[in-house]
Amino acid sequence: MPGIKGPSDYSQEPPRHPSLQINSKVPFNAEPPRSALASSYVTPVDLFYKRNHGPIPVVDDIERYCVDICGLIGTPKKLYMRDVRMLPKYNVTATLQCAGNRRTAMSKTRKVRGVGWDVSAIGNAVWGGAKLADVLELIGIPKLTCSTQSGGKHVEFVSIDKCKEENGGPYKASIPLSQATNPEADVLLAYEMNGEPLNRDHGYPLRVIVPGVIGARSVKWLDSIYIIAEECQGFFMQKDYKMFPPSVDWDNINWSTRRPQMDFPVQSVICSLEDVQSIKPGKVTISGYAVSGGGRGIERVDVSIDGGKTWLEASRSQKTGVPYIADHVSSDKWAWVLFEVTVDIPYSTEIVAKAVDSAANVQPENVQDIWNLRGILNTSWHRVQVRVGHSNM
Ligand code: MTE
Repeated sequence: MPGIKGPSDYSQEPPRHPSLQINSKVPFNAEPPRSALASSYVTPVDLFYKRNHGPIPVVDDIERYCVDICGLIGTPKKLYMRDVRMLPKYNVTATLQCAGNRRTAMSKTRKVRGVGWDVSAIGNAVWGGAKLADVLELIGIPKLTCSTQSGGKHVEFVSIDKCKEENGGPYKASIPLSQATNPEADVLLAYEMNGEPLNRDHGYPLRVIVPGVIGARSVKWLDSIYIIAEECQGFFMQKDYKMFPPSVDWDNINWSTRRPQMDFPVQSVICSLEDVQSIKPGKVTISGYAVSGGGRGIERVDVSIDGGKTWLEASRSQKTGVPYIADHVSSDKWAWVLFEVTVDIPYSTEIVAKAVDSAANVQPENVQDIWNLRGILNTSWHRVQVRVGHSNM
């Protein structure tokens, strides 16, 4: 593709914030410290988790950069940045979550494969760009289309990066055409993050944002869009990011029995405390994030200071000065809520958080029940141990 290239080594990586916890150096995978994550509703770009499967692409001529749109459509099109910018611009506040978030904790139950993550492979950003529904209209696919005349039912996004899992080929993923052409689904071809042009780590010059769906479908460094009959057959759709029951292991796995994971489930995490933390006796403010996929709001966040025997309801917020109401027009439907509750902790105990979404889905109690060999979607109750000391704290 002219204007952009995918290097095969890591000699041209961008600079990164020193406080990121690096989980894998090459490809670069890193997350912010817990305390930084829940301190702002919109996550600063520098501290937003970075999840890569190969070296970061390099743009050498932005004027020549374009996305090829082809497949089961009448006339293929080359989409230049100026074409994207000419379409109405939308700012969508959406939480992006890596399906591997909290994998390290899941692997303590039983070993899983994949990069280990603490609780911060998640972030909330304001993504600016054109709606995919408007882009597809340019090539003659009307809004709310499930199938094109030539049988196109899925939209595949192909990148330019070189991934080991694809034998040096690009990262790719697809979403159903019905979602892509639904303006209410807010799927974006984004060129901005928090009001600035995307940086290299996050997909410069153009990436897909699929709100409410695991981050794996939000393809960065977009190279081409294919309208196809079946969902994408790439590694990350067919051989990864699928949820298997705890009985399936590497000896008996049959990948084709499960569908690629799309929406993410309800979850909440305490960010103000580490897994094991010493505190002084007295008042403690417990805070963190809660989010659900598919645009479902957060109905409640319950916090327990006795390991889950009794619960207190935490306050929830998104934008300052706007009371948060789940699924209300005033709320950002694709975005997390931050929660907070102040409690008195006189003795050592286990603190737990669990969220309920607007469809009354609740987090599973134990990680063992949702263990899966790829270690995805550990959304079990989040538990931290506090050790209360009376001196030298
Ligand atoms: N797109 C490309 N081209 N290459 C990638 O490695 N990783 C995916 C997705 N899009 C990836 C990609 C995964 S698994 C996630 S969770 C998100 O990007 C992470 O986006 P971020 O690094 O901007 O946080």
